Amino acid sequence: MKKGLIAFALASVAICFLSFKQKFDLKSSIARGKEVYTLQCLSCHQEQGEGLEDVFPPLAKSDYLMADKTRSIRQTLHGVSGEIKVNGKIYNGEMSGFDLTDEEVSDVLNYIRNSWGNKGAAVTPQEVAATRK
Ligand code: HEC
Repeated sequence: MKKGLIAFALASVAICFLSFKQKFDLKSSIARGKEVYTLQCLSCHQEQGEGLEDVFPPLAKSDYLMADKTRSIRQTLHGVSGEIKVNGKIYNGEMSGFDLTDEEVSDVLNYIRNSWGNKGAAVTPQEVAATRK
C-alpha cells in the first residue's frame, strides 16, 4: 500500500515535470521569429507589417492571416499565388515558399500573429511538421 503511494507520488512529480518542460514558450518563439521576419519577410511585408498598397498584402491586422492558422503555415512553407482578399482588398500576386525549419516557421508565424495589434494562439513546430506532410 505504502509502496504504491510512493510510486504514485513519484509518477505525478515526473508527469508535472514533463508537462512543464513541454509547455511551449510563446514569448521566446516570438523573439526568435522577429529575426526570421527581418531576414526573410520584411523586404516585402515591411517593418510594421503594413505591406505595400496593391502589391504586398499587410500582415498587421490582416483578417486573412488571422482567420486560418493552418493555411498560413502552408503558405509560409509552399507560397501563395492567385487572388486573395485581405482586409477587403484584392491582391493577385505571388509569393514563393520558404526553406525554413519547423521551428523557424513556428517562430515567424508567432511573431506576425502577435505583433502590430495581432493576437493569436501559438503555432508549435509540431503543427508545422504535421502540415508539411
Ligand atoms: C518577395 C516578396 C515577399 C516576401 C519576401 C514575403 N512575402 Fe508574404 N506575400 C507576398 C505576396 C505578393 C503575397 C500575396 C500573394 C497573392 O496575392 O496571392 C503574400 C502573402 C502572404 C500571406 C497571406 C496574406 C496576408 O496578408 O495575410 C502571408 C501570411 C505571408 N505572405 C507571410 C509571409 C511570411 C511569413 C514571410 C517571410 C517568411 C513572407 N510572407 C515573405 C510577398 C512576399
